[in-house]
Amino acid sequence: FPQAVIFDLDGVLTDTAEFHYLAWKQLGAELGIEVDKALNEQLKGVSRLQSLERILAAAPVPPVLTAEEMEHLAAKKNAHYTALIASVTPNDILPGIAALLQELRAAGLKLAVGSASRNAPFVLERLGLDSAFDYVVDAGRIQRGKPDPETFTNAADHLKVPYESCIGVEDAAAGVEAIKRAGMFAVGIGSAQTLRQADYLVTATELLSAEHILAAYSRWIDKA
Ligand code: G6P
Ligand code: MG
Repeated sequence: FPQAVIFDLDGVLTDTAEFHYLAWKQLGAELGIEVDKALNEQLKGVSRLQSLERILAAAPVPPVLTAEEMEHLAAKKNAHYTALIASVTPNDILPGIAALLQELRAAGLKLAVGSASRNAPFVLERLGLDSAFDYVVDAGRIQRGKPDPETFTNAADHLKVPYESCIGVEDAAAGVEAIKRAGMFAVGIGSAQTLRQADYLVTATELLSAEHILAAYSRWIDKA
């Protein structure tokens, strides 16, 4: 039986993935760089500075910037982003998530958030979910972001749960890869094309149920 479920935040608990996209799009427009949905798929789950690097690399003539200039642009994106998340409320918890958290709790599982976002504590507070989890990964203590497994192993280590007894839930390709590299069971939310490595996939959060996830986990662990 699994012992813990580690949830990504942006695009899983709430649709802040869309706000990250809009904020990058706005910064891109200021720089004359088009940030479209395809490029955005490469940014999901990826740290602020790395996302900026990928956007700059997509420019027709990629600019060469100093570390200070990079920091300045990253801060600008974050200003756009924080303006957008200021209006988040508990109504913005994605469909099916509140019920799922309750079901998993009732089944005796520990719950954690595995997000590299420095805005995660603020967003969780806005959602009214700040006391819903046993542990929230502190972005400041992670050395390597997704697709490195550290975000997920850090949560499991803190909860003192073996990796194969953990379930990770993600909407990003980089996130699913991180869960698999951690040796955990990966639940993907999105398209099969993007989340090829997921062990169990749904196209939207309202299709998540504890019963289905636990059954899929059992089949996976039995095969191992
Ligand atoms: C999450 C999001 C990414 C974001 C990263 C850093 O992984 O999926 O889109 O770039 O966090 O977020 P931050 O709020 O610290 O810029
Ligand atoms: Mg995400």
